Parts: sequence; structure tokens; C-alpha cells
Amino acid sequence: MPRVHILPAETDLLADPDENLLKLLRRHQVPIRYSCKSGECGSCKCVLESGQVKLKKYDPKALPDAQRDSGIILACRAILSEDITIRLTDSDDLIAHPERKLLCRVVALEPLTQDIFALRLHIEFADMEGIPFTFSAGQYAQIVVEVDGQEIARDFSMASTPVDAEYDDLLEFHIRRTPTGALSSLLGSVIRPGAQLLVRGPMGTSYFRPRHQGPLYAVGGGTGLAPMLSVAQTALDNGKLEPVVLFAGFRNQADVYGLEQMEQMRRSYRNFSYHLALDEAQPGDPPQAVHRPLAAHLLEQVAEFAGSKVYLAGPPGMVEAISASLLERGLPENDLHADAFYPPVTAELAPAA
Ligand code: FES
Repeated sequence: MPRVHILPAETDLLADPDENLLKLLRRHQVPIRYSCKSGECGSCKCVLESGQVKLKKYDPKALPDAQRDSGIILACRAILSEDITIRLTDSDDLIAHPERKLLCRVVALEPLTQDIFALRLHIEFADMEGIPFTFSAGQYAQIVVEVDGQEIARDFSMASTPVDAEYDDLLEFHIRRTPTGALSSLLGSVIRPGAQLLVRGPMGTSYFRPRHQGPLYAVGGGTGLAPMLSVAQTALDNGKLEPVVLFAGFRNQADVYGLEQMEQMRRSYRNFSYHLALDEAQPGDPPQAVHRPLAAHLLEQVAEFAGSKVYLAGPPGMVEAISASLLERGLPENDLHADAFYPPVTAELAPAA
């Protein structure tokens, strides 16, 4: 009979020949996350430390080749024929959300500034029927529209929380409209309330790690505030007790948004605070604004980053500069989760096929 050694619990289970690993674990009430039981959702991932299993057919989106090559298996697809050792990982660093295709309807397009809009979508139909769409705060998705038979796809981070998606089928994105933006220039015309569009995702690894204990700093420049609002709100909703501090940076007062939400969070949670940094000073700036670059303000305000996690999103220059400064100040690389909003590669820049 195959023996399954389970880490980190250091327990052993005896399986029937050709028994399914998930079935064995459930039979012995071993706590493991699972959902579809058919290799589609990826929630039953665990690490095969030694031995071999036969993996039945699964959706590669649930277990990309790179993860499989690194030893991750899907318990629901694993057939046992020899002794193995597995590690049940509830690791914060293992992405459990498969990439999905969602058909969404625009329910609102609300201007947040003169050129930044909140795009709110209702998920009308999702692949993997019956399995709710899930993501981790801080992740992004691709919004896809079709114009004259041409597909236009761009990545945007979710500003809403995973709970909004899972329970209310709602997604919110913050998008800066630019006259030359292939997708953003369609805001208000093709992308208007009532319109249908496709969303693919979630993607990205700069997502909230719920098991971390210690201060959380969420740093967003421009529309990089969107995923940081999601990260901070999710951390607070999860009952995080350590300080959650949001640093929002903008060029000037015309770009500022999200103040009301941050104020609301400050009133609701004692451990939440926020900073507003503006590059340019102008008459009528919000009274809480400081006038210096976001990076300088962050480094001045936080004397010690040891034991913290920093989440960072925004323009590449800002993200790269702040990342370098934080690493120089001794923040371990795996406590820095940065997402730079690189512009899409244009046809002229793309390498020749
Ligand atoms: S439970 Fe969904 S992939 Fe295993």
C-alpha cells in the first residue's frame, strides 16, 4: 500500500493502490483547500517533495507547466502508486486562482478626476460554471474589447476587493483616459454603461499575503492607488491588527482621487493611516497633502522596514526607484511586492517574429 508522508504535520497515511490523493486526504480529515475536484480551479495544489504520482488530465491554467516542473501537483488529479512525501502548503506565495474568462457588463463609468475613471463591471458569465471568480488583492486582469473586428486588450489592476467579486460579482478598475490610449480612449464611447466586454484574469504576483504578521505599507503612484486600495481594504477586512499605512502620490491636486475612501478607512480602523504626497504645490491643495516626491516621503516617514511588507504599484520609474531604495534600506526582497505599470509593447517596439 502506498504510504503518504505529509509535511509539515509529519503524519503518515496509508492509501489504497491507485487511490486519489485528495480522496485520501479528505477520508482522513486532513485540512486541504479544494473546490472543483476536476483539475480546473487549482485550489488543491500541494508540493510533491519525493516520489512520483500519476496526474490525470487537468486544465493547464490551473497548474501551469512552470509550477508543475517545480514540483507542484493537484491533489484532486494525483493517483497514488508508490510512497510519496507531500507538503501541504498554505503558503502565501502560492497563487491559487486560475486564470478565467469573464463576460462582464459595464454598470458604471464614474469620473474620479478630469481624466481618471472608475469602471465598474458586473460579471454576467464566467467559465468554469459554478466556481466563483476569485483573485488576490493587488492582482490585475486584462480588459478586452473588440472594435471593427480587432481585439484591443490592456491590463488593469482591480481596485475592488476579492470579496466584491466573489459575493457580488463586481469588479472595479481605475483607468486614466488618454487621447491615444488604445483602450482608455474608448471610455465613454465603446466602453459605456450597458456595454459588454471580456475580462481575462487574474494575473500578477504582487498580491496581498494574508499570513504575514507585521506592518503593511501600500504605496501607490497615480492609478497605482487602485490595487493599493484593494490590498489595504482587504488587509483591514481580514482583521489585520498591525499598522496598515497607505501612501498615495500624485503630480498635483488635479490628479488626486480616493481621498474619501481613505478617510472612511481611517475613521473605521484604528490601525489604518494614510499619507498624500503631491509633486507640485498649488493653492487649494488638500490640507493633509505634503509636497515632496512619494519616495522621499515614504523613506522619511518609515524609519525601519524590518518585519514589514511593502506593496508598491505605479509608473515604472517610481516603482523602480522606490524598490531600489527599500532594498538598500534592508527590506528583504521577498517582503517587497512591486507592480510597475509598463506601457504595452507597440508593434514597432516588438521584436521581429
Ligand atoms: S480541486 Fe480544483 S483543481 Fe483540484
